[in-house]
Amino acid sequence: MTYKRTRFISVILITINLLAWLPQQDKKLQESMVRGKELYGELCITCHLADGKGTPGTIPPLAGSSYFAKKITNAIYPQKFGLNEPIVVNGVKYTAPMPPPGISDEEIADITTYITNSWGNKGKLITVKEVQKVAINK
Ligand code: HEC
Repeated sequence: MTYKRTRFISVILITINLLAWLPQQDKKLQESMVRGKELYGELCITCHLADGKGTPGTIPPLAGSSYFAKKITNAIYPQKFGLNEPIVVNGVKYTAPMPPPGISDEEIADITTYITNSWGNKGKLITVKEVQKVAINK
């Protein structure tokens, strides 16, 4: 086989693989969103509300949150350990503590996928590995 032909075939194979991989990733994201939405409805909605806007000055918003747009750890940490320190979200200060929800890393991954891809937020699929990496001494 000539070099040109080998290269041509390689390019075709890589393209086919990519085309098969993309919808699969998209499907994983959609499935994680569905699980995340359900958990959000059970565990978070009472405080952060269905539209993710919270209550300005009391409960911080997740919709358009400047706090975790900067660093994905900031979205994961409160779900793993709770949060009890003053923070500023979208220019507003919050001081009330968030109790630790007491859920698994799998559940946190799905909820984080949901909140970072809802209400106009644009993120990606969050994996259990990313959740595992977040430690208490951030
Ligand atoms: C009892 C009310 C309550 C519940 C339930 C709750 N939170 Fe919170 N959450 C808060 C408060 C209050 C803060 C601010 C904590 C601080 O300033 O130390 C906060 C902070 C956050 C933050 C970081 C700040 C921001 O707006 O980006 C995220 C992310 C978050 N919560 C996600 C969640 C998720 C996901 C759930 C469900 C698993 C949840 N919270 C459940 C009250 C709550």
